[in-house]
Formats: sequence, C-alpha cells, structure tokens
Amino acid sequence: MQKVLVSPSILSADFANLERDCNLIKNAGADYIHCDVMDGLFVPNISFGLPVVESISKIGLPLDVHLMIVHPQNYVQRFVEAGASIVTFHLEATEDVRGTIELIKQCGAKVGVSIRPNTPVELLLPYKGMFDLLLVMSVEPGFGGQSFLPHSLQKIATARQLFPDVIIEVDGGIGEQNAKQVVDAGANMLVAGSAVFKSSNVAKTIANLKNCAN
Ligand code: DX5
Ligand code: ZN
Repeated sequence: MQKVLVSPSILSADFANLERDCNLIKNAGADYIHCDVMDGLFVPNISFGLPVVESISKIGLPLDVHLMIVHPQNYVQRFVEAGASIVTFHLEATEDVRGTIELIKQCGAKVGVSIRPNTPVELLLPYKGMFDLLLVMSVEPGFGGQSFLPHSLQKIATARQLFPDVIIEVDGGIGEQNAKQVVDAGANMLVAGSAVFKSSNVAKTIANLKNCAN
C-alpha cells in the first residue's frame, strides 16, 4: 500500500476563520498545512506572510511552506523560525539555488524545490541528492481553483524516475477526480486547496485523497 501525504492549501480557507479551518483539516487527517506565500512579484498575487505562518504553527500540524517569492534566501531563516517544517522555493526565483538549499538545511527544515509548469524537471539534476522534496506545479502558481494541466502527468513521471528517493509533491487542480492519476504517475504528496475547503465532507475528501492509490 502506497503512502500518500495530503497537504491542504489554506489559500482556499476562510481567512476570517483560519483557526477553525486549520483545526478542521487537522481533525480530518491532514498530514501538513500547505502555506502559499506570494509576494506580488514572482506571482501576480499577494497572499500572506510570516505572522500568519507563525500563528498557524500553533495548530500543531507540520507546516509545508511554499514560497512563491523572489529572493527566497532572504526569508528562509525567518520562515523556519516561524515554524516551517518544509521550506519549498522556486528554482526560477533565485540565482543561488545551492546557497538557498544549504541555508534551509542549516536552519533545520526539510528542503523543497519547485518548478513552474513550463520548467523542465531535468533542470534540477545538478542538485540531485541535495533536496528532500520536489514540488511539481500543475497550474501556473498564483491562484487557487485552476484546472490541472494535463502535461503535468508526464513531468511527475519524469520527476519520479530521475529522483526516486525524494518526496514528489504536486500542487494545483488536484481533487478526488484526478488524484489517482497523479499518484499512479509517481506523486506521493498531494496539495489540495479548493477540493478540500469546498468539500461538504472534508474528512472523507482527505481520506479519499490519501487512499486513492488503493
Ligand atoms: C497556487 C498554489 C496552490 C493552490 C492550490 O499557486 O500554490 O497551492 O492553493 O489550489 P487548488 O487546489 O484549488 O488548485
Ligand atoms: Zn502551493
């Protein structure tokens, strides 16, 4: 039985009731809380930052922080201090990929590297063995509620083949209808925002995402 981790994205939560919504996914069996940090530069949207992440760390679920910001190395330490268990940055967002990876490690968090839909997985080969998680974006980063880009399936398969020992996380347009395809292609961690927070039965949705491979 393949173990699939589920990391609901709170971008689709009710920000006026963030504590309630975080507890909802915690009690529904989520493995992580996916925190989408956007700066309005790397992506055309602004979401939330350090104080929100720090507050959410009190919920008691590990935080999977997805930095969609330029110069991520300038913020790594503060996000780890705010409670991030995994810090994922974009390959396209920094000139200093190695330095950013080293910094995340030194700060004591797991290292995630992410690529946009049009960035080839092969560009990560020089960093093989240096990161714990590869986040394949299956929509253009910036907004929740978009449709899964079908060419992502091939990228997930390539990612699994080239990096057999890392967590392959997939983010964007994932729900109960396509989770099995994504996991069969090689993913073992699923981000879901709208599919979880728009569900009328969050526990059932999370359970279905976790068990989609069986
Ligand atoms: C998009 C974010 C995603 C987003 C996913 O830039 O990285 O995490 O919240 O939302 P859904 O699951 O609704 O596509
Ligand atoms: Zn994300």
